Amino acid sequence: MVKIAPSILSADFSRLGEEIKAAEKAGADWIHVDVMDGHFVPNITIGPPVVKSIKKSAAIPLDVHLMIEDPDQYIDAFVKAGSDIISVHAEASTHLHRSINYIKGSGAKAGVSLNPSTPLNILDFILPEVDLVILMSVNPGFGGQEFIPQTLNKLRMLKEIIKRNKLKVEIEIDGGVNTDNAPDVVKAGADILVMGNAFYGSKDYAGVVKAVRKKCG
Ligand code: DX5
Ligand code: ZN
Repeated sequence: MVKIAPSILSADFSRLGEEIKAAEKAGADWIHVDVMDGHFVPNITIGPPVVKSIKKSAAIPLDVHLMIEDPDQYIDAFVKAGSDIISVHAEASTHLHRSINYIKGSGAKAGVSLNPSTPLNILDFILPEVDLVILMSVNPGFGGQEFIPQTLNKLRMLKEIIKRNKLKVEIEIDGGVNTDNAPDVVKAGADILVMGNAFYGSKDYAGVVKAVRKKCG
């Protein structure tokens, strides 16, 4: 069954704890936390202190997506804050192998995220070591953008590589996923769907989860 990871980027930041509890109650599997530094992406969001405080409200895993330059510098702080999964961008990490192994050595699951235009072959020598690949289906920086359809081909190709090599790597699709396109995304091989605007922009969180489960299985 596909996992649903609401992105708190689209939640009401004045009530983050409640918004997380509401997502859990609606049946969400993970909470997706978008960390932006104003350098790697043209937006600034939250850092370790906020992750630490929302951890108190979250019973389900915190899936922390670092859209920041020089992520190695902050891994310890995000682990300590209670991140369960930490993903770094391949484009932002000079020593990706070291970053991934450092995250795993710290006790969190490790992911690597790719921008829409970044080719899959950047994963050639790291894929067996990661727990998660995030394929961005928008250019990172903002919620509420439109899904880039070319992501589906990339997703099918990645799924095929993972299957062929019998790897236990999950694929998360991040950006512009909604109840209409979710079936195509799942059919193409997604294991986890990030939903920001489509989830927190809705008045009926449980209805969104229900619709995705009904349409995607
Ligand atoms: C984009 C973020 C996404 C974003 C998804 O930079 O990484 O996680 O919050 O939001 P939607 O689902 O609204 O595109
Ligand atoms: Zn994200």
